Amino acid sequence: MNASNPFHATGDEGMALLSAVHLSYAVKGAQLLKDVSLVIRPGENLGVVGPNGSGKSTLLKLLAGIKTPTHGEVLLHGKPLSTLRRRDIARCLAVVEQQAQTSDNLTVQEAVELGRTPWLSALAPWSDVDRDIVDQAMADVNLQRLKDRAWHSLSGGERQRAHIARALAQQPQILLLDEPTNHLDIQQQLLILRRVHCLPVTTVTALHDLNQALACDRLAVLDAGRLVALGLPFDVLTPQRLHTTFGVTGHWLTDPVDGARLLRLRTVSDGAS
Ligand SMILES: Nc1ncnc2c1ncn2[C@@H]1O[C@H](COP(=O)(O)OP(=O)(O)OP(=O)(O)O)[C@@H](O)[C@H]1O
Ligand SMILES: [Mg+2]
Repeated sequence: MNASNPFHATGDEGMALLSAVHLSYAVKGAQLLKDVSLVIRPGENLGVVGPNGSGKSTLLKLLAGIKTPTHGEVLLHGKPLSTLRRRDIARCLAVVEQQAQTSDNLTVQEAVELGRTPWLSALAPWSDVDRDIVDQAMADVNLQRLKDRAWHSLSGGERQRAHIARALAQQPQILLLDEPTNHLDIQQQLLILRRVHCLPVTTVTALHDLNQALACDRLAVLDAGRLVALGLPFDVLTPQRLHTTFGVTGHWLTDPVDGARLLRLRTVSDGAS
């Protein structure tokens, strides 16, 4: 336990779906993530927010097992990720990276079909069930009409939707999404975030748009590699937090259409505090 970390390991990590236990990650002496502990609750939509360089992508890569922590560990169903086979991890957990790569020689459908790989074996070869899952995943992100297109011909937003479809086709219990809407037009942003939140899976999503983050069940706030707040969005995004971590002033407004609360954000120098 580290008394300086208010979100220290709670002792119930063994029961959790996914937990970070005192995670630290350093590269060439630079501490990118510092003693982050976090229990991800089954079924929740957890948002990860923080300024550029605060460690959001690093945390997601550690949770996905793409990077190995310098200290601490990630537990999946109570077992250290480092002791699990990649295939078993992939049956449980799918990730859409911020800069996801896919071979250019594939069609969109072939790229999405890769999501079924962890489920296929000599005893369980490709079947109509897999085809239906892939079709549904493409429909979920409105990609059906592009299914035969060559990957290299897609726009940035279309590629991003195809990466999300590939992750959905993996049928994970946990979906880790690193800025899943950063290339999408506003309609696709709203549709995909709503779709992701309606899925019967646990999600961990790194986001920059704090108003979109309000739709998450809980928010984790990273600042210079540390977890500085964790809780309900309205409890976490206090004026003081917005100022100290994000360097902005924020005021709550009420949407006259549905009464929802929204953040109006300004740079500190705008002087509208
Ligand atoms: N290989 C590396 N060597 C040194 N520093 C690195 C390396 N990889 C990442 N960093 C630094 O680690 C910090 C955290 O990076 P990370 O990508 O996790 O931030 P982020 O919160 O996802 O930022 P963004 O909002 O820009 O996506 C950044 O300052 C980044 O420059
Ligand atoms: Mg990032």
